[in-house]
Amino acid sequence: MSLSQKSVTTALEGVTVPGATASIVESGLVRQMEIEGGTVRVLITLPGGNPAHADTVRAEATRVLQELEGVEKALVDVRIMPVQAGGQAAPAQPQVGSQQNPAWADRVKGIKHIVAVASGKGGVGKSTVAANLALALARDKRAVALLDGDIYGPSQQMMMGGGQPMADQSGKIYPVEAPGGVKVMSLGLIIDPDQPVIWRGPLLMKALEQFIGDVIWGDVDDMVVDLPPGTGDIAITLCQNVPMAGAVIVTTPQDVALIDARKALAMFQKMDVPVLGIVENMSYYECPSCGHVEHIFGDGGGERTAEQLGVPFLGGIPIDPEIVRGGDSGKPIVASRPDSPAAKAFVEIARKVAAVLDQ
Ligand SMILES: Nc1ncnc2c1ncn2[C@@H]1O[C@H](COP(=O)(O)OP(=O)(O)OP(=O)(O)O)[C@@H](O)[C@H]1O
Ligand SMILES: [Mg+2]
Repeated sequence: MSLSQKSVTTALEGVTVPGATASIVESGLVRQMEIEGGTVRVLITLPGGNPAHADTVRAEATRVLQELEGVEKALVDVRIMPVQAGGQAAPAQPQVGSQQNPAWADRVKGIKHIVAVASGKGGVGKSTVAANLALALARDKRAVALLDGDIYGPSQQMMMGGGQPMADQSGKIYPVEAPGGVKVMSLGLIIDPDQPVIWRGPLLMKALEQFIGDVIWGDVDDMVVDLPPGTGDIAITLCQNVPMAGAVIVTTPQDVALIDARKALAMFQKMDVPVLGIVENMSYYECPSCGHVEHIFGDGGGERTAEQLGVPFLGGIPIDPEIVRGGDSGKPIVASRPDSPAAKAFVEIARKVAAVLDQ
């Protein structure tokens, strides 16, 4: 049999990503194929996930190609697909049931519960919810940490008031202590947040690994992880490698946001991460002078979605210009205006989350 695209494809049908059931061909991961004499070149892209899987796939694909009649040289390039800025990831294919990274799991040993704050859509207020949730949990005498998992667009360095993380000789990094005693780590505390981060693939995974691996968190009751928008590879990698106690999904009341919330929910369900509930942000606006309540973006959408999807509705947060000021000035509303309706709503939500975590 002479060397053809067909025989190469057939050979690659025997290769799967660890933990996946469909072959790399079936999953559409083989992106390029070139045959020149006895040399075969293939490009395989992996949708995020564990960098170790790239090595496994490379080795396996090389092996099956080398066994193919007529192949003198097999050049296999495996790339981890980047998440594009704005969060729309390459089609996510979580490898359900894949192994957790033992090193990471070891480093988060002192943390009792890790909670991801996620959304399907950007700009719905995840970072705002993460910061205020962390502060509200800390107000209830819990030891709290906040990890900014948004490596492309970190915001917790601003929301939580900045600071300079300390590092020791061995390269261990100590989180910054923010108001309320919350330990904060964000890439924005280390690099200039105005410079776009263009890390890709393995470098990105390395950065994430350091975040989880090199930061000394100490004993923590609850770690809140502010995820980037969407269901991209950072979210997937974190959920695969860190023992997540659960996820909180943030949405706004519009139908488009709700469709995306459903996608986020489906992602967590695929990864076996329990969804603790849905928070509806920017639920309504209450006029400070007349008290009139206006549901600017729609009414009751978050609650209905939660009901349809069979997950708890954790509560709604009103639109409040003080939230923007608080976020921009390093003092989230739970700290700056604890008596405001928005701060009280965050405290309520935090109590519901804590109750589930403590179960
Ligand atoms: N309830 C609210 N009332 C008024 N402004 C809000 C509210 N929630 C969030 N905002 C503002 O909306 C903007 C976006 O919020 P935030 O950065 O928390 O969203 P995000 O989902 O984390 O965004 P990204 O997807 O870019 O990470 C911020 O300026 C924030 O201050
Ligand atoms: Mg954010």
